[in-house]
Amino acid sequence: MEFVNEMRLEFRALAENEAFARLAVSGFLLPLDPTLEALADVKTAVSEAVTNAVVHAYPDEPGTVRLRAGYDADGTVEIDVIDRGRGIEDVEKARQPFFTTADGDERSGMGFTVMESFMDRVSVRSAPGKGTTVRLYKRIAPRDEAVPRRA
Ligand SMILES: Nc1ncnc2c1ncn2[C@@H]1O[C@H](COP(=O)(O)OP(=O)(O)OP(=O)(O)O)[C@@H](O)[C@H]1O
Ligand SMILES: [Mg+2]
Repeated sequence: MEFVNEMRLEFRALAENEAFARLAVSGFLLPLDPTLEALADVKTAVSEAVTNAVVHAYPDEPGTVRLRAGYDADGTVEIDVIDRGRGIEDVEKARQPFFTTADGDERSGMGFTVMESFMDRVSVRSAPGKGTTVRLYKRIAPRDEAVPRRA
């Protein structure tokens, strides 16, 4: 993808940084003039991916989460959420609805499913012991593109 704009961020894998990540991405996307709905979709997906890095990646002490985002001239957005944590043994299994390795009632195993439903595409690369990269794609149509043109 050829980006016309891009950004990078790095922060500690702490729950209090989920809102920061979400707001940073939505601020970055404002030049695309997104609808509130599109922005909410992206924020939700970013939230899920960052939450996963916070909750699952670093069982011992909080490591670092890296966030990268960029968009091309057509308004297609690519967002990477990267950790260098424990990684995922079986990505295909982890992506299934209701699959969770967390015990207790707090996790429903729906994070990846939510990301998939709010974004156009989600790719996951992971290696046990090395970390995980979740890549989210979505085309953000400018607000006026949805308005029917007059003859
Ligand atoms: N960054 C990550 N590092 C390590 N394991 C991960 C990571 N992201 C996801 N996983 C694994 O994939 C599983 C499924 O993730 P998913 O987000 O779908 O559900 P969840 O986080 O368990 O629950 P929910 O998101 O509904 O609170 C997790 O339980 C965890 O085992
Ligand atoms: Mg999750």
